[in-house]
Amino acid sequence: MAEAQIIDGKKIAADVRAEVATEVARLVKEHGVKAGLAVVLVGEDPASKVYVKNKAQQTVEVGMNSWEYKLPAETSEAEVLALVQKLNNDPACHGILVQLPLPKHINSEKVLNAINPDKDVDGFHPVNVGRLWVGERALVPCTPTGSIILAKSVRPNLSGMDAVVIGRSNIVGKPVAALLLRENCTVTIAHSRTKNIEDIVKCADLVIAAVGIPEMVKGSWIRPGAIVIDVGINRVPSENGKTKLVGDVAYDECAKVAGAITPVPGGVGPMTIACLLRNAAQAAAMQIGVKSAFA
Ligand code: GUN
Repeated sequence: MAEAQIIDGKKIAADVRAEVATEVARLVKEHGVKAGLAVVLVGEDPASKVYVKNKAQQTVEVGMNSWEYKLPAETSEAEVLALVQKLNNDPACHGILVQLPLPKHINSEKVLNAINPDKDVDGFHPVNVGRLWVGERALVPCTPTGSIILAKSVRPNLSGMDAVVIGRSNIVGKPVAALLLRENCTVTIAHSRTKNIEDIVKCADLVIAAVGIPEMVKGSWIRPGAIVIDVGINRVPSENGKTKLVGDVAYDECAKVAGAITPVPGGVGPMTIACLLRNAAQAAAMQIGVKSAFA
């Protein structure tokens, strides 16, 4: 059997960023507004610091204003809430992202729910979750949006496909299921308590794996020709004594059976920041009351 088409997330993310740059320039030219995104990082989590640095760099590259608030780990919840309020009230700031995880003494839910839903570029606020599920215009979580864009790069019309989502998190599983439903897929959400998960995945034309278990999805689970989108990023020990990144999908086995598959790294990963920038541009258009190129 032929090997699967490899879906190039790096390339597609660059295409999305180019679209965002065009939209940002249009908002400046036609409305005199430069979109702006603020990122709040509390503490010293090394992975979060790398993330935030990449976000800031790419925000500037697409022509947006970028603000980084780096607060010490001992910052109080009240101080973080006060910063969120300040950004909510700042008309130059169209998007607010509070990097997770927050230190343990801060209630993440309280902080995320304090963000103005129209500036909630993560799409985590319950108002945006509700808007997504009822089909209203919403800011939608970034990784799910990126996963759908990758699937549609292979098959532009997903209507009628049997999609199986593995994982039910608020960040990926649930919102990606909502988006698939909006694309007219028949959607099954499988999770850690699902019986006969292998048989369920085997029925899927489209598999979206977001469980956080290294290489859980085996080649024998995949229906020949299926599209496989791997959201997992797991660091595991490698043969040379170092660590390597693997997805939630056993890539080599699945690539022999699937029609198309995302690699890890270089698949869904690069799409997340690209879609964050897209959300910030959408938020800016919404706040100035004009039609967005993206929603
Ligand atoms: N930490 C890891 N991924 C994310 C994300 O998508 N959004 C936020 N706010 N924090 C994260």
